[in-house]
Amino acid sequence: MTTGSEYARHWTLDPDVVFLNHGSFGACPSHLLEYQSELIARMEREPMRFFVMELPGLLEEALAELGRFIGADPAGLTFVNNASSAVSAVLRSIPFQAGDRLLITDHAYPACRNALDFVAERTGLEVVVAQVPFPASSHDQVFDAIMEAWRPGTRLALLDHITSPTGLLFPIRRLVESLQGRGTDVLVDGAHAPGMVDLHLDRLGAAYYTGNCHKWMCTPKGSAFLYVRSDRLDTVRPLTISHGATAPTDANSRFRNEFDWTGTDDPTPWLTVPESIRYFRDLVPGGWPSLRDRNRELLTRAVEAMTTTAGLTGPGPADMLLNLAAFPLPDDPRADDKDAFGFSAIRRKLLHDYRIQIPVWTWPQVPGRVLRLSVQLYNDLSQYRYLAKAVKELLEAEG
Ligand SMILES: Cc1ncc(COP(=O)(O)O)c(C=O)c1O
Repeated sequence: MTTGSEYARHWTLDPDVVFLNHGSFGACPSHLLEYQSELIARMEREPMRFFVMELPGLLEEALAELGRFIGADPAGLTFVNNASSAVSAVLRSIPFQAGDRLLITDHAYPACRNALDFVAERTGLEVVVAQVPFPASSHDQVFDAIMEAWRPGTRLALLDHITSPTGLLFPIRRLVESLQGRGTDVLVDGAHAPGMVDLHLDRLGAAYYTGNCHKWMCTPKGSAFLYVRSDRLDTVRPLTISHGATAPTDANSRFRNEFDWTGTDDPTPWLTVPESIRYFRDLVPGGWPSLRDRNRELLTRAVEAMTTTAGLTGPGPADMLLNLAAFPLPDDPRADDKDAFGFSAIRRKLLHDYRIQIPVWTWPQVPGRVLRLSVQLYNDLSQYRYLAKAVKELLEAEG
């Protein structure tokens, strides 16, 4: 067992678990949890004052800070609880016409694929799925696979910035430019990007972009954003229609009026975002650029351990990898053997026999499977060496 890096003490992670799954739900350091607790105390001390008199200004400041961090004009930026709700809000707002096409890839996050299918079935749209090879050989290969799947009449492409099951960085800038050049708006699912990628959303120019702060910016759960390009702002409505629909638009756009209030909820996860930006800037010498370099370097070493010690095939070239790496495993000999949580036999063994928390999921379909590791500040190389030995032993035992 291994306890992780010198940064691990800033998190409250269970020391009895080797936690290599930051990608699923993130993990919040104690400082940000305490900061949120103070905000909650402030909210509960005088709820009327907090929600009516203080919250609008706090949101304004938090969006301005976030906008600076991700290179986005805050006028087109709003907080949402998670990337799933942002994807659904955009998909359900666009006035598609029967026969329109939607483009997605076979690496998309399954929940977002469900949202796309729901809208497609309701309106009679055709969903075209680009098959992107995995392991990948280059950005060009990914770009070509997606562009070759494009057909006339494609109204929207839903593309991951970093893919969930396979952890690949897609060449999103070129894809946005080329697809939008052909008249197809792009909704970028950047659930993994904030904190992992140095974002410049205004320059990227995607019609729509969503990102989670609760993954790689390590904020409390329920903090994400939706960015909408200025010429699409009038189109997008939240999933919940509330006061904002009829609020005056002299001070704020309808977009901001509607998304800033979708009913009573806890806004404190959103309000921790500026503190996360400051906290990691000050925690790591060199700030966010060094943090990103450190994680990327550690990931390279982790991939080496998995390929040399465990004999696995890596996910792709180094310039397609940041904080996630997925490895195809040999076909699952016990593909039907899932527990009540949907965990496969090898995943259960990793957790119970080795105390390693890491996803191994079916992909692209039964009996195929991939193991996906995550790298965050609290991890260190000894953990991936330990993982590589464990995976080698378990694969050998499968025979
Ligand atoms: C690519 C991608 N999109 C969307 C999501 C959904 O994020 P959330 O559960 O915060 O909505 C995830 C979560 O892992 C993801 O990996």
